[in-house]
Amino acid sequence: MSAGEDRPRLRSRAWFDNPDNPDMTALYIERYLNYGLSLEELQSDRPIIGIAQTGSDLTPCNRHHVVLAERVKEGIRDAGGIPLEFPIHPIQETGKRPTAGLDRNLAYLSLVEVLHGYPIDGVVLTIGCDKTTPACLMAAATVDIPAIALSVGPMLNGWHKGERVGSGTIIWKAREMFAAGEIDYKGFIKLVASSAPSTGFCNTMGTATTMNSLTEALGMALPGSAAIPAPHRDRQQCAWETGRRAVEMVAADRKPSDILTREAFLNAIRVNSALGGSTNAPIHLNAIARHIGVELSLDDWERHGAEIPLLVNLQPAGEYLGEDFYRAGGVPAVIGELLRAHLIFGDALTANGRTIAANNRDAEPEDERVIRRFGAPLKSAAGLTVLRGNLFDTAVMKTSVISDWFRAHYLSDPDDPDAFEARAVVFDGPEDYHAKVDDPALGIDDRTILVIRGTGPIGFPGGAEVVNMRPPASLIRAGVEALPCIGDGRQSGTSGSPSILNASPEAAAGGGIALLQTGDIIRVDLKRREVNMLVDDIELTRRRTALEAAGGYAIANSQTPWQEIQRGIVGQFDGGAVLEPAVKYQ
Ligand code: FES
Ligand code: MG
Repeated sequence: MSAGEDRPRLRSRAWFDNPDNPDMTALYIERYLNYGLSLEELQSDRPIIGIAQTGSDLTPCNRHHVVLAERVKEGIRDAGGIPLEFPIHPIQETGKRPTAGLDRNLAYLSLVEVLHGYPIDGVVLTIGCDKTTPACLMAAATVDIPAIALSVGPMLNGWHKGERVGSGTIIWKAREMFAAGEIDYKGFIKLVASSAPSTGFCNTMGTATTMNSLTEALGMALPGSAAIPAPHRDRQQCAWETGRRAVEMVAADRKPSDILTREAFLNAIRVNSALGGSTNAPIHLNAIARHIGVELSLDDWERHGAEIPLLVNLQPAGEYLGEDFYRAGGVPAVIGELLRAHLIFGDALTANGRTIAANNRDAEPEDERVIRRFGAPLKSAAGLTVLRGNLFDTAVMKTSVISDWFRAHYLSDPDDPDAFEARAVVFDGPEDYHAKVDDPALGIDDRTILVIRGTGPIGFPGGAEVVNMRPPASLIRAGVEALPCIGDGRQSGTSGSPSILNASPEAAAGGGIALLQTGDIIRVDLKRREVNMLVDDIELTRRRTALEAAGGYAIANSQTPWQEIQRGIVGQFDGGAVLEPAVKYQ
């Protein structure tokens, strides 16, 4: 590539070719020569494209990026750029103790430092496992250099005895079978492992598929790229094309701030409803919006997302898995349907320089069992419901996963079909829940609502994915599929439970949920979007005074320095659980 007249000076020139400061230029450049790069390359006005590598042996969901990076590099070279691959802090959703929730903001912080402090003109973000995606997009938003995301792609479908077995979703089923004595320890592990037949991320519509799809809907990845299964040849081709595109984006100076507009976020909210996306999506999207400086609140999720129908028939809301989603047309087919229904801001710019309408208007569902037409959805009004009341200022519920059983059991009063009352049983954190849930003394029956607290961004630092609690084994054996659950933590995107979660503020931040006691009655009214403990104000004031006298809601000690640092500066789930002091750096 020749030095473009119309292109701003490459930022990497300040390191590698600055005749006004020979001392520093020599110092900056000499070490990059030591493995074979030449002066000619580094001083030829060719853009340096970073490859932010999230894959490693510790992050199996993203590990295939180590292979894909070779094709990304070839694409970058073919388009005239110079690739520099570097690692970022690993985040493995299921392997990190106590929770990967801690690591999103840490990886964000470290990637900001790398993008800001090294000679990088543009970056390919290798996304995949749940929090690798928001961490990368949040950092790109803060630093605002040309950036394009490459998904690693989902695993192939899992199978067991002729049936599809989906990531994560099978755990919830297997633990019920185990609790009911239908399978043993070995059988439990074998059944769960059958969901992971190849490299790639969770093959269900969990947080990974959701966030990779929403990255495409935001315009930060190539059209059609999110759903390609990791082992497919198309995935390799997509890696090459993404590398080429990154070089072109630098030439065009197309930055995250050009792509991540309010319209782009509203598009993503609507796509999330049509996907049956994860309940973690509002946390992560709101976090990205805050780092790019776009106003976005849970009210926008309600206003723009609630009425959108469910089109994608993937587990946990539906039947199919990632391979099926790809064959049926993937994200473009979903956006195409929403475009034809006039529900997408079609002018939103995307990474390839075209609008989202131009990219997707001709895309059609190719298998209507997997991706429905807008006029024949799986469910109408399938977005997240935002709830309020005296337990919390906001909490969310994924209504698309309310089962017929749950509806028949809890929402069957003909005079009051959208509301129910239940007796609360309260757990303080996951250990307390595991220790006590099967204790008959708690009197848990099918009119109980399970509540877990101490599990938000401060209480269980990072926020635990624990709100979808299973009923006691005795109730499962008696045919109780699920109990309603409330919590100030998260729940896995692969869970099909209609829990009320992400309650903000959490107990540890003074939320009303801290005042609840076992035995209180809770009223859930989905029509009025309210959840209240039926405890009078005088009693609530008395409880708050007592709690404050005791020094507030008790939380466990931090185990690592980062846990303590994050606890001091992290916000609540409704604001994206970002590091609050970081938001002003835009
Ligand atoms: Fe990594 Fe699901 S655990 S993608
Ligand atoms: Mg998860």
